[in-house]
Amino acid sequence: MTTIRAWAAAGPKEPFKPFEYELGALGPDEIDIDVDYCGLCHSDLSMWANEWGRTAYPFVGGHEVVGRVREVGANVAGLTVGQKVGLGWLSKSNLNSQQSLSGDHNLSPGNEATIIGRHGGFADIVRCQWVWAIPLPEDVDFKKAGPLFCGGVTVFNPLVQFSVKPTDKVGVIGIGGLGHLGLQFLNKWGCEVTAFTSSPDKEKEAREFGAHKTLNSRDPGAWKQAKGRFDFLLATVAVTLDWTRLMRTLAPRGRLHFVGAVGEPVPVHIPAIMGGQNQISASPVGSPAVTAQMLDFCSRHDIAPMTEQFKMSDINAAMEHLDAGKARYRIVLENDFD
Ligand SMILES: NC(=O)c1ccc[n+]([C@@H]2O[C@H](COP(=O)([O-])OP(=O)(O)OC[C@H]3O[C@@H](n4cnc5c(N)ncnc54)[C@H](OP(=O)(O)O)[C@@H]3O)[C@@H](O)[C@H]2O)c1
Repeated sequence: MTTIRAWAAAGPKEPFKPFEYELGALGPDEIDIDVDYCGLCHSDLSMWANEWGRTAYPFVGGHEVVGRVREVGANVAGLTVGQKVGLGWLSKSNLNSQQSLSGDHNLSPGNEATIIGRHGGFADIVRCQWVWAIPLPEDVDFKKAGPLFCGGVTVFNPLVQFSVKPTDKVGVIGIGGLGHLGLQFLNKWGCEVTAFTSSPDKEKEAREFGAHKTLNSRDPGAWKQAKGRFDFLLATVAVTLDWTRLMRTLAPRGRLHFVGAVGEPVPVHIPAIMGGQNQISASPVGSPAVTAQMLDFCSRHDIAPMTEQFKMSDINAAMEHLDAGKARYRIVLENDFD
């Protein structure tokens, strides 16, 4: 039996308080990770507030973990005790599903999420199936790497899935935890990159992350100059924008792609996307293989999240900071259990 020390909320938006639980025996295909750092994703906020109706309390969030392998199950090969690994949104897949056998573990039916129906990385130890513990390259900054395992791979994955080309003109909508990484990836991918932001104070940093242009995401009037421009629009926001008018900025064959969990239906006027043969799509986090590819891309191109560090014991202040839209651009909690 392993006793886990964690930070848990007793109900929607209740403060996080110290909480202990027992993990039980380690399964043959599982590993335990000693948590060093854990990023804060907007999905942690949504889960904390039970916005998606899927939260069980006490709720221990945290799904952007980096740490060191503490113990490996009897069938685990390829991971060693002490090795640095990261764990993101998913913690277990059916390895016999058609999707897993094809390398698309992230699309496998019945996937287990790190913070749904179980406890996550706001803790000193977290458990997962070995396949979702992704080894961290030595030259990726350990302190900042956590956000790559959810936010990072979520915006990298569509570039791979939809074969985004270096000649493409791409817009990233919302420059938060996901969006600021999207700008960095797309710039190094070779694309012409436009940042859509509702925060004028982010425009300068958006250009430093790799945007060639910026546009106001809440001013459809400002989008007229971009009519018919974009081959790919990557929406990272959780809010409703004027999607119908935004779609007019798509080039023929252009795609509006959602990774942000927009809570309301997106209206689509079919005749408006018919003529240009446009597409609308969405995707979850990437597979273990795409996550490893992303880490390699980060180390080759010196890409890293811009982070603000908080002690894990300051989790309530950190959540409040994120909730207020003040994070620049990803908060990382440092495990400070004794
Ligand atoms: N598909 C997946 O598997 C996956 C994985 C991770 C996260 N997510 C989801 O992705 C979304 C973004 O996550 P995140 O961690 O990047 O969140 P975040 O750091 O809070 O960033 C969201 C950004 O949205 C923009 N925004 C917020 N309120 C707005 C408003 N009223 N009008 C216009 N823009 C607004 C802001 O950017 P500006 O200041 O630039 O406007 C903000 O920085 C969330 O819904 C999260 O649940 C999905």
